[in-house]
Amino acid sequence: MQIKRIAVFVSGGGSNMQAVMDGINAGRINGRIVSVLSSSPNAYALIRAREAGVETVVLPKDPVQREAVTLETLDRCGADLCLLAGYLGIISPAVVKKYNNRMINIHPSLIPSFCGKGYYGHFVHEAVLDYGAKVSGCTTHFVAEGIDTGAIIMQKAVPVMPDDTPETLAARILVQEHIILPETVRLFCLDRLAVSGRKVTIKGE
Ligand code: GRF
Repeated sequence: MQIKRIAVFVSGGGSNMQAVMDGINAGRINGRIVSVLSSSPNAYALIRAREAGVETVVLPKDPVQREAVTLETLDRCGADLCLLAGYLGIISPAVVKKYNNRMINIHPSLIPSFCGKGYYGHFVHEAVLDYGAKVSGCTTHFVAEGIDTGAIIMQKAVPVMPDDTPETLAARILVQEHIILPETVRLFCLDRLAVSGRKVTIKGE
């Protein structure tokens, strides 16, 4: 099976991208990261990419320029999969449409709870604690129109502890993100994710 070419979109530390890199390097994922595109020039994820010898692109702030650079980069790299790993920017509708069922995001809650506009980073975990939820977790999903709306691929739940802070909850969830994102990518690279409407099934399970 041909190795899948993966473009990763980042904004911050890049620990999720690193987990996928580690899976590739361990021979568990039939993929290769061909470009890392960042919404921020200061993202530590860019350092991780450069240390791994992967091309990096800092995306322009202007939405029209950002779309043009994104499409040019993805075309040039021949990306089979776009991976949003801690990406806080907006992907334009044209890019979402072009990479329908080939663009995957990870979100640090159990979608459809605590997701959508304004729910990112610590805001997610603050809302979970404020609501008094007893479980939270993380979700990988295909990217569709809107924020965090696409078909769900994989989820993992974690308990919310009585003395949790947004930071302790985030850390507990991040451990699971580093498990389900590489597993999601592994399955995608084996063409084992089947999508029918909102339902994603894993072929051969
Ligand atoms: C993670 O919780 C991710 O779900 C969220 O940003 C956090 C940091 O991700 N989108 P990373 O370390 O930059 O991969």
